[in-house]
Amino acid sequence: MDKKEFARRRRAIMEDMGEGSIAILPAAPVRARNRDVEYPYRQDSDFHYVTGFDEPEAVAVLVPKRKRGEYILFCRERDAEMEIWNGARSGLEGACADYGADDAFPIGDIDDILPGLLENQSRVYYAMGYDSDFDQHMIGWVNRVRTRSKVGVRSPAEFVALDNVLHEMRLVKSKAEVRAMTRAMEISSDAHIRAMGACHPGMAEYEIEAELNYAFTCAGSRRTAYPSIVAGGANACVLHYIENRDNLRDGDLLLIDAGAEYDYYAADITRTFPVNGRFSKAQKALYELVLEAQEAAIEQIQPGNHWNEPHEAAVEVLAQGLVALGLIKGRAATVIKKGRYRKFYVHRTGHWLGMDVHDVGDYKIGGEWRVFEPGMVMTVEPGLYVAAGDKQVARKWWNIGIRIEDDVLVTRNGNKVLTSSVPKSVDDIEAIVGQG
Ligand code: GLY
Ligand code: MN
Ligand code: MN
Repeated sequence: MDKKEFARRRRAIMEDMGEGSIAILPAAPVRARNRDVEYPYRQDSDFHYVTGFDEPEAVAVLVPKRKRGEYILFCRERDAEMEIWNGARSGLEGACADYGADDAFPIGDIDDILPGLLENQSRVYYAMGYDSDFDQHMIGWVNRVRTRSKVGVRSPAEFVALDNVLHEMRLVKSKAEVRAMTRAMEISSDAHIRAMGACHPGMAEYEIEAELNYAFTCAGSRRTAYPSIVAGGANACVLHYIENRDNLRDGDLLLIDAGAEYDYYAADITRTFPVNGRFSKAQKALYELVLEAQEAAIEQIQPGNHWNEPHEAAVEVLAQGLVALGLIKGRAATVIKKGRYRKFYVHRTGHWLGMDVHDVGDYKIGGEWRVFEPGMVMTVEPGLYVAAGDKQVARKWWNIGIRIEDDVLVTRNGNKVLTSSVPKSVDDIEAIVGQG
Protein backbone atom coordinates (compact mmCIF):
# COMPACT_ATOMS: atom_id res chain seq x y z
CA MET A 1 0.00 0.00 0.00
CA ASP A 2 1.15 3.51 -0.81
CA LYS A 3 3.06 5.46 1.87
CA LYS A 4 0.62 8.31 1.37
CA GLU A 5 -2.24 6.10 2.54
CA PHE A 6 -0.59 5.62 5.94
CA ALA A 7 0.23 9.33 6.17
CA ARG A 8 -3.43 10.15 5.47
CA ARG A 9 -4.54 7.82 8.24
CA ARG A 10 -2.15 9.36 10.77
CA ARG A 11 -3.35 12.83 9.76
CA ALA A 12 -6.98 11.82 10.31
CA ILE A 13 -6.20 10.28 13.71
CA MET A 14 -4.30 13.38 14.81
CA GLU A 15 -7.11 15.66 13.68
CA ASP A 16 -9.48 13.59 15.79
CA MET A 17 -7.14 13.75 18.80
CA GLY A 18 -6.40 17.47 18.70
CA GLU A 19 -3.64 19.36 20.44
CA GLY A 20 -2.56 18.46 23.98
CA SER A 21 -2.77 14.74 23.35
CA ILE A 22 -0.51 11.78 22.60
CA ALA A 23 -1.25 8.37 21.10
CA ILE A 24 0.90 5.34 21.91
CA LEU A 25 0.65 2.13 19.92
CA PRO A 26 2.88 -0.95 20.33
CA ALA A 27 3.78 -3.49 17.65
CA ALA A 28 2.66 -7.10 18.10
CA PRO A 29 5.01 -9.11 20.32
CA VAL A 30 6.98 -12.06 18.96
CA ARG A 31 5.67 -15.35 20.38
CA ALA A 32 7.87 -18.37 21.04
CA ARG A 33 6.63 -21.69 19.71
CA ASN A 34 9.37 -23.83 21.23
CA ARG A 35 13.15 -23.78 21.53
CA ASP A 36 14.59 -21.35 18.96
CA VAL A 37 11.36 -21.40 16.91
CA GLU A 38 8.89 -18.55 16.83
CA TYR A 39 5.34 -18.44 15.52
CA PRO A 40 5.27 -16.73 12.13
CA TYR A 41 5.21 -13.03 12.91
CA ARG A 42 2.27 -10.93 11.86
CA GLN A 43 2.14 -7.28 12.74
CA ASP A 44 -0.79 -6.10 14.87
CA SER A 45 -3.55 -4.88 12.56
CA ASP A 46 -3.98 -1.51 14.28
CA PHE A 47 -0.23 -0.93 14.29
CA HIS A 48 0.07 -1.81 10.62
CA TYR A 49 -2.94 0.35 9.79
CA VAL A 50 -1.23 3.39 11.29
CA THR A 51 2.39 2.75 10.29
CA GLY A 52 2.71 0.20 7.48
CA PHE A 53 5.73 -1.00 9.52
CA ASP A 54 6.11 -4.78 9.69
CA GLU A 55 8.87 -5.25 12.24
CA PRO A 56 8.41 -6.35 15.86
CA GLU A 57 9.82 -4.42 18.84
CA ALA A 58 8.44 -1.10 17.74
CA VAL A 59 6.24 1.60 19.29
CA ALA A 60 4.52 4.35 17.31
CA VAL A 61 3.80 7.67 19.00
CA LEU A 62 1.65 10.46 17.60
CA VAL A 63 1.81 13.92 19.14
CA PRO A 64 -0.35 16.37 17.15
CA LYS A 65 1.34 19.77 16.67
CA ARG A 66 4.62 18.70 18.26
CA LYS A 67 7.14 21.14 16.87
CA ARG A 68 9.97 18.66 16.48
CA GLY A 69 7.79 16.15 14.64
CA GLU A 70 4.38 14.66 15.22
CA TYR A 71 5.12 11.04 14.34
CA ILE A 72 7.80 9.26 16.34
CA LEU A 73 8.76 5.65 15.77
CA PHE A 74 10.74 3.63 18.29
CA CYS A 75 12.24 0.62 16.56
CA ARG A 76 15.19 -1.75 16.38
CA GLU A 77 18.50 -0.31 15.25
CA ARG A 78 20.43 -1.80 12.35
CA ASP A 79 22.57 -4.71 13.53
CA ALA A 80 24.92 -6.31 11.00
CA GLU A 81 25.22 -9.58 12.93
CA MET A 82 21.50 -10.05 13.62
CA GLU A 83 20.69 -9.14 10.04
CA ILE A 84 22.82 -12.05 8.84
CA TRP A 85 20.49 -14.37 10.76
CA ASN A 86 17.11 -12.74 10.34
CA GLY A 87 17.25 -10.36 7.41
CA ALA A 88 17.38 -6.60 6.99
CA ARG A 89 16.01 -4.14 9.51
CA SER A 90 14.81 -0.68 8.63
CA GLY A 91 16.70 0.95 11.45
CA LEU A 92 16.17 4.55 12.52
CA GLU A 93 17.05 5.92 9.11
CA GLY A 94 14.62 3.64 7.31
CA ALA A 95 11.87 4.48 9.81
CA CYS A 96 12.08 8.10 8.67
CA ALA A 97 13.01 7.64 5.01
CA ASP A 98 10.73 4.71 4.16
CA TYR A 99 7.94 4.89 6.72
CA GLY A 100 7.40 8.62 7.09
CA ALA A 101 8.44 8.99 10.75
CA ASP A 102 9.47 12.54 11.68
CA ASP A 103 11.76 11.21 14.36
CA ALA A 104 13.01 7.73 15.21
CA PHE A 105 14.68 6.37 18.36
CA PRO A 106 16.12 3.00 19.39
CA ILE A 107 13.47 0.89 21.11
CA GLY A 108 15.97 0.33 23.93
CA ASP A 109 15.81 4.04 24.79
CA ILE A 110 12.04 4.23 25.16
CA ASP A 111 12.06 4.28 28.99
CA ASP A 112 14.22 7.40 28.91
CA ILE A 113 12.33 9.22 26.17
CA LEU A 114 8.64 8.39 26.47
CA PRO A 115 7.97 9.99 29.89
CA GLY A 116 9.27 13.27 28.44
CA LEU A 117 6.78 13.00 25.56
CA LEU A 118 3.95 12.46 28.05
CA GLU A 119 4.81 15.57 30.07
CA ASN A 120 2.18 18.31 29.94
CA GLN A 121 -0.12 16.35 27.61
CA SER A 122 -3.74 16.32 28.79
CA ARG A 123 -4.97 13.19 27.00
CA VAL A 124 -3.35 9.84 26.35
CA TYR A 125 -4.78 7.65 23.58
CA TYR A 126 -3.92 4.05 24.33
CA ALA A 127 -5.63 0.67 23.88
CA MET A 128 -5.52 -0.80 27.38
CA GLY A 129 -5.77 -4.50 28.13
CA TYR A 130 -4.50 -6.12 24.91
CA ASP A 131 -0.87 -6.56 25.98
CA SER A 132 -0.40 -6.75 29.73
CA ASP A 133 3.39 -6.35 29.55
CA PHE A 134 2.99 -3.15 27.61
CA ASP A 135 0.22 -1.97 29.98
CA GLN A 136 2.77 -2.25 32.81
CA HIS A 137 5.27 -0.12 30.88
CA MET A 138 2.57 2.51 30.29
CA ILE A 139 1.78 2.67 34.00
CA GLY A 140 5.49 3.05 34.76
CA TRP A 141 5.92 5.91 32.25
CA VAL A 142 2.85 7.78 33.50
CA ASN A 143 4.02 7.38 37.09
CA ARG A 144 7.41 8.79 36.12
CA VAL A 145 5.65 11.92 34.87
CA ARG A 146 3.59 12.13 38.09
CA THR A 147 6.75 12.23 40.20
CA ARG A 148 7.68 15.45 38.40
CA SER A 149 4.58 17.36 39.53
CA LYS A 150 6.68 19.12 42.17
CA VAL A 151 8.71 20.81 39.46
CA GLY A 152 5.54 21.99 37.75
CA VAL A 153 5.11 19.19 35.18
CA ARG A 154 1.48 18.32 34.44
CA SER A 155 0.63 14.66 34.09
CA PRO A 156 -2.12 13.35 31.78
CA ALA A 157 -5.64 13.78 33.11
CA GLU A 158 -7.59 11.71 30.59
CA PHE A 159 -7.09 8.29 29.06
CA VAL A 160 -8.94 7.59 25.84
CA ALA A 161 -9.39 4.19 24.13
CA LEU A 162 -7.27 4.49 20.98
CA ASP A 163 -8.80 1.27 19.67
CA ASN A 164 -12.23 2.93 19.47
CA VAL A 165 -10.84 5.71 17.30
CA LEU A 166 -8.94 3.34 15.01
CA HIS A 167 -11.73 0.80 14.71
CA GLU A 168 -14.26 3.38 13.60
CA MET A 169 -11.79 4.40 10.89
CA ARG A 170 -11.02 0.82 9.89
CA LEU A 171 -14.71 0.00 9.49
CA VAL A 172 -15.08 2.27 6.45
CA LYS A 173 -12.61 1.22 3.79
CA SER A 174 -10.70 3.66 1.57
CA LYS A 175 -10.22 3.09 -2.18
CA ALA A 176 -6.77 1.62 -1.54
CA GLU A 177 -8.20 -0.75 1.03
CA VAL A 178 -10.97 -1.89 -1.31
CA ARG A 179 -8.27 -2.56 -3.94
CA ALA A 180 -6.27 -4.73 -1.52
CA MET A 181 -9.40 -6.56 -0.40
CA THR A 182 -10.47 -7.13 -3.98
CA ARG A 183 -7.08 -8.74 -4.65
CA ALA A 184 -7.40 -10.99 -1.56
CA MET A 185 -10.82 -12.00 -2.82
CA GLU A 186 -9.68 -12.68 -6.39
CA ILE A 187 -6.89 -14.91 -5.08
CA SER A 188 -9.33 -16.71 -2.80
CA SER A 189 -11.96 -17.07 -5.50
CA ASP A 190 -9.43 -18.63 -7.87
CA ALA A 191 -8.36 -21.02 -5.11
CA HIS A 192 -11.96 -22.13 -4.50
CA ILE A 193 -12.43 -22.71 -8.22
CA ARG A 194 -9.24 -24.77 -8.29
CA ALA A 195 -10.38 -26.84 -5.29
CA MET A 196 -13.77 -27.52 -6.90
CA GLY A 197 -12.10 -28.65 -10.09
CA ALA A 198 -9.71 -30.95 -8.22
CA CYS A 199 -12.29 -32.65 -6.01
CA HIS A 200 -12.94 -36.40 -6.42
CA PRO A 201 -14.36 -39.06 -4.12
CA GLY A 202 -11.59 -40.78 -2.16
CA MET A 203 -9.37 -37.72 -1.82
CA ALA A 204 -8.48 -36.55 1.67
CA GLU A 205 -9.72 -33.22 2.98
CA TYR A 206 -6.09 -32.17 3.45
CA GLU A 207 -5.42 -32.73 -0.24
CA ILE A 208 -8.09 -30.17 -1.03
CA GLU A 209 -6.54 -27.87 1.59
CA ALA A 210 -3.23 -28.30 -0.24
CA GLU A 211 -4.87 -27.18 -3.50
CA LEU A 212 -6.10 -24.04 -1.74
CA ASN A 213 -2.74 -23.31 -0.17
CA TYR A 214 -0.97 -23.85 -3.49
CA ALA A 215 -3.25 -21.36 -5.22
CA PHE A 216 -2.93 -18.80 -2.40
CA THR A 217 0.83 -18.97 -2.29
CA CYS A 218 1.37 -18.96 -6.05
CA ALA A 219 -0.73 -15.80 -6.25
CA GLY A 220 1.46 -14.01 -3.70
CA SER A 221 -0.59 -14.49 -0.56
CA ARG A 222 1.80 -15.48 2.22
CA ARG A 223 -0.78 -16.59 4.79
CA THR A 224 -4.42 -17.51 5.09
CA ALA A 225 -6.80 -15.07 6.75
CA TYR A 226 -7.86 -17.87 9.15
CA PRO A 227 -7.41 -21.66 9.30
CA SER A 228 -9.15 -23.21 6.29
CA ILE A 229 -12.18 -25.40 6.92
CA VAL A 230 -12.35 -28.35 4.52
CA ALA A 231 -15.22 -30.41 5.83
CA GLY A 232 -16.75 -33.42 4.08
CA GLY A 233 -20.14 -34.90 5.04
CA ALA A 234 -20.86 -34.79 8.79
CA ASN A 235 -17.74 -32.69 9.43
CA ALA A 236 -19.54 -29.73 7.86
CA CYS A 237 -21.91 -29.72 10.84
CA VAL A 238 -18.95 -28.84 13.11
CA LEU A 239 -18.81 -25.12 12.45
CA HIS A 240 -15.09 -24.66 13.11
CA TYR A 241 -13.82 -28.01 11.85
CA ILE A 242 -10.17 -27.45 10.88
CA GLU A 243 -8.63 -30.91 11.28
CA ASN A 244 -9.21 -31.54 7.55
CA ARG A 245 -8.03 -35.14 7.88
CA ASP A 246 -10.88 -37.39 6.69
CA ASN A 247 -11.47 -38.92 3.29
CA LEU A 248 -14.12 -37.48 1.01
CA ARG A 249 -16.94 -39.87 0.29
CA ASP A 250 -18.99 -40.34 -2.83
CA GLY A 251 -22.45 -38.95 -2.13
CA ASP A 252 -21.34 -36.46 0.56
CA LEU A 253 -21.17 -32.71 0.33
CA LEU A 254 -17.92 -30.83 0.90
CA LEU A 255 -17.94 -27.46 2.67
CA ILE A 256 -14.88 -25.27 2.12
CA ASP A 257 -14.51 -22.06 4.12
CA ALA A 258 -11.19 -20.51 3.14
CA GLY A 259 -9.74 -17.09 2.45
CA ALA A 260 -6.33 -15.67 1.70
CA GLU A 261 -4.78 -12.67 3.37
CA TYR A 262 -3.21 -10.22 0.96
CA ASP A 263 -1.35 -7.08 1.96
CA TYR A 264 -2.91 -7.42 5.45
CA TYR A 265 -6.49 -7.74 4.16
CA ALA A 266 -8.69 -10.80 4.49
CA ALA A 267 -11.06 -12.63 2.20
CA ASP A 268 -13.62 -15.03 3.65
CA ILE A 269 -15.43 -17.34 1.24
CA THR A 270 -17.47 -20.51 1.72
CA ARG A 271 -18.78 -22.85 -0.91
CA THR A 272 -20.50 -26.20 -0.48
CA PHE A 273 -20.66 -28.73 -3.30
CA PRO A 274 -21.10 -32.46 -3.92
CA VAL A 275 -17.88 -34.48 -3.75
CA ASN A 276 -18.95 -36.46 -6.84
CA GLY A 277 -20.24 -33.45 -8.76
CA ARG A 278 -23.98 -34.27 -8.49
CA PHE A 279 -26.33 -33.01 -5.77
CA SER A 280 -28.77 -35.59 -4.40
CA LYS A 281 -32.41 -34.50 -4.20
CA ALA A 282 -32.22 -33.75 -0.48
CA GLN A 283 -28.88 -31.96 -0.78
CA LYS A 284 -30.21 -29.87 -3.65
CA ALA A 285 -33.37 -28.89 -1.75
CA LEU A 286 -31.42 -27.63 1.26
CA TYR A 287 -28.73 -26.05 -0.89
CA GLU A 288 -31.21 -24.04 -2.90
CA LEU A 289 -32.86 -22.90 0.30
CA VAL A 290 -29.57 -21.59 1.70
CA LEU A 291 -28.81 -19.92 -1.62
CA GLU A 292 -32.19 -18.21 -1.66
CA ALA A 293 -31.60 -17.00 1.92
CA GLN A 294 -28.19 -15.67 0.95
CA GLU A 295 -29.55 -13.79 -2.06
CA ALA A 296 -32.33 -12.29 0.06
CA ALA A 297 -29.76 -11.18 2.63
CA ILE A 298 -27.44 -9.62 0.05
CA GLU A 299 -30.34 -7.60 -1.34
CA GLN A 300 -30.72 -5.91 2.03
CA ILE A 301 -27.20 -4.51 1.96
CA GLN A 302 -27.54 -0.91 0.92
CA PRO A 303 -26.88 2.48 2.48
CA GLY A 304 -29.59 3.37 4.95
CA ASN A 305 -30.51 -0.22 5.84
CA HIS A 306 -29.26 -1.44 9.20
CA TRP A 307 -26.91 -4.24 10.17
CA ASN A 308 -29.59 -6.74 11.15
CA GLU A 309 -31.71 -6.50 8.00
CA PRO A 310 -29.71 -9.07 5.99
CA HIS A 311 -29.90 -11.51 8.92
CA GLU A 312 -33.65 -10.99 9.28
CA ALA A 313 -34.15 -11.58 5.56
CA ALA A 314 -32.08 -14.79 5.66
CA VAL A 315 -33.91 -16.12 8.71
CA GLU A 316 -37.28 -15.43 7.08
CA VAL A 317 -36.38 -17.48 3.99
CA LEU A 318 -34.77 -20.29 6.00
CA ALA A 319 -37.70 -20.61 8.41
CA GLN A 320 -40.24 -20.77 5.60
CA GLY A 321 -38.16 -23.33 3.73
CA LEU A 322 -37.55 -25.51 6.77
CA VAL A 323 -41.30 -25.64 7.40
CA ALA A 324 -42.09 -26.30 3.72
CA LEU A 325 -39.56 -29.17 3.59
CA GLY A 326 -40.90 -30.65 6.82
CA LEU A 327 -37.76 -30.22 8.92
CA ILE A 328 -39.66 -28.06 11.39
CA LYS A 329 -43.36 -28.30 12.17
CA GLY A 330 -45.55 -25.25 12.69
CA ARG A 331 -45.92 -21.82 11.12
CA ALA A 332 -42.88 -19.94 9.86
CA ALA A 333 -43.80 -16.82 11.85
CA THR A 334 -43.83 -18.84 15.09
CA VAL A 335 -40.60 -20.63 14.16
CA ILE A 336 -38.93 -17.22 13.80
CA LYS A 337 -40.50 -15.71 16.90
CA LYS A 338 -39.53 -18.64 19.11
CA GLY A 339 -36.11 -18.98 17.44
CA ARG A 340 -36.79 -22.62 16.56
CA TYR A 341 -34.85 -22.28 13.29
CA ARG A 342 -31.77 -22.14 15.54
CA LYS A 343 -31.81 -25.92 15.71
CA PHE A 344 -30.35 -25.83 12.18
CA TYR A 345 -28.87 -22.32 12.00
CA VAL A 346 -27.05 -21.24 15.15
CA HIS A 347 -24.77 -18.53 13.79
CA ARG A 348 -25.45 -15.09 12.44
CA THR A 349 -25.55 -14.12 8.78
CA GLY A 350 -22.28 -12.20 8.66
CA HIS A 351 -19.62 -10.00 10.20
CA TRP A 352 -17.48 -7.03 9.22
CA LEU A 353 -14.48 -7.94 7.09
CA GLY A 354 -11.17 -6.09 6.70
CA MET A 355 -7.67 -6.54 8.09
CA ASP A 356 -9.11 -9.07 10.52
CA VAL A 357 -11.47 -11.71 9.25
CA HIS A 358 -13.93 -10.89 12.01
CA ASP A 359 -13.12 -7.24 11.63
CA VAL A 360 -13.39 -4.37 14.07
CA GLY A 361 -16.26 -1.90 14.25
CA ASP A 362 -19.37 -1.75 16.40
CA TYR A 363 -22.56 -3.45 15.24
CA LYS A 364 -24.77 -1.23 17.37
CA ILE A 365 -24.58 2.48 18.08
CA GLY A 366 -26.42 3.74 21.15
CA GLY A 367 -28.32 0.48 21.38
CA GLU A 368 -29.55 0.59 17.74
CA TRP A 369 -28.30 -1.55 14.86
CA ARG A 370 -25.71 0.30 12.83
CA VAL A 371 -26.77 1.75 9.47
CA PHE A 372 -24.77 0.71 6.37
CA GLU A 373 -22.50 3.30 4.76
CA PRO A 374 -20.55 3.10 1.49
CA GLY A 375 -17.12 1.56 2.09
CA MET A 376 -18.19 -0.96 4.71
CA VAL A 377 -17.38 -4.58 3.82
CA MET A 378 -19.07 -7.61 5.32
CA THR A 379 -19.69 -11.28 4.76
CA VAL A 380 -23.07 -12.81 4.01
CA GLU A 381 -23.01 -16.44 5.08
CA PRO A 382 -26.23 -18.20 5.95
CA GLY A 383 -26.13 -21.95 6.43
CA LEU A 384 -28.05 -25.02 7.52
CA TYR A 385 -26.54 -27.85 9.51
CA VAL A 386 -28.46 -31.07 10.12
CA ALA A 387 -26.54 -33.36 12.43
CA ALA A 388 -27.26 -37.09 12.48
CA GLY A 389 -29.34 -38.73 15.17
CA ASP A 390 -32.32 -36.43 15.51
CA LYS A 391 -35.34 -38.76 15.35
CA GLN A 392 -37.68 -35.85 14.57
CA VAL A 393 -35.82 -35.23 11.35
CA ALA A 394 -36.12 -37.62 8.40
CA ARG A 395 -32.92 -39.57 7.87
CA LYS A 396 -32.42 -38.24 4.33
CA TRP A 397 -31.43 -34.84 5.78
CA TRP A 398 -28.86 -36.15 8.24
CA ASN A 399 -25.21 -35.08 7.94
CA ILE A 400 -25.96 -32.29 5.50
CA GLY A 401 -24.06 -29.12 6.38
CA ILE A 402 -24.26 -26.20 3.98
CA ARG A 403 -22.94 -22.65 4.11
CA ILE A 404 -22.60 -20.16 1.27
CA GLU A 405 -20.47 -17.13 2.04
CA ASP A 406 -19.64 -14.10 -0.07
CA ASP A 407 -17.90 -10.80 0.68
CA VAL A 408 -19.94 -7.69 -0.01
CA LEU A 409 -19.01 -4.01 -0.27
CA VAL A 410 -21.58 -1.32 0.47
CA THR A 411 -21.60 1.11 -2.45
CA ARG A 412 -23.34 4.45 -2.89
CA ASN A 413 -26.34 2.88 -4.59
CA GLY A 414 -26.45 -0.58 -3.13
CA ASN A 415 -23.75 -3.20 -2.93
CA LYS A 416 -21.14 -5.10 -4.86
CA VAL A 417 -20.46 -8.80 -4.30
CA LEU A 418 -16.67 -9.04 -4.50
CA THR A 419 -16.52 -12.82 -4.66
CA SER A 420 -19.10 -13.50 -7.34
CA SER A 421 -16.70 -15.34 -9.64
CA VAL A 422 -16.91 -18.52 -7.53
CA PRO A 423 -19.79 -20.64 -8.86
CA LYS A 424 -22.73 -21.06 -6.52
CA SER A 425 -25.79 -22.04 -8.55
CA VAL A 426 -26.47 -25.79 -8.67
CA ASP A 427 -25.89 -25.90 -12.43
CA ASP A 428 -22.65 -23.91 -12.33
CA ILE A 429 -21.30 -26.04 -9.50
CA GLU A 430 -22.20 -29.33 -11.20
CA ALA A 431 -20.46 -28.14 -14.34
CA ILE A 432 -17.12 -27.56 -12.62
CA VAL A 433 -16.65 -30.05 -9.76
CA GLY A 434 -14.08 -32.70 -10.65
CA GLN A 435 -13.37 -31.18 -14.06
CA GLY A 436 -10.01 -29.56 -13.13
N1 GLY B 1 -14.24 -18.17 8.32
C1 GLY B 1 -14.82 -17.67 9.49
C2 GLY B 1 -16.14 -17.14 9.25
O1 GLY B 1 -16.74 -17.44 8.24
O2 GLY B 1 -16.64 -16.36 9.99
MN1 MN C 1 -15.85 -18.04 6.45
MN1 MN D 1 -17.21 -15.36 7.75
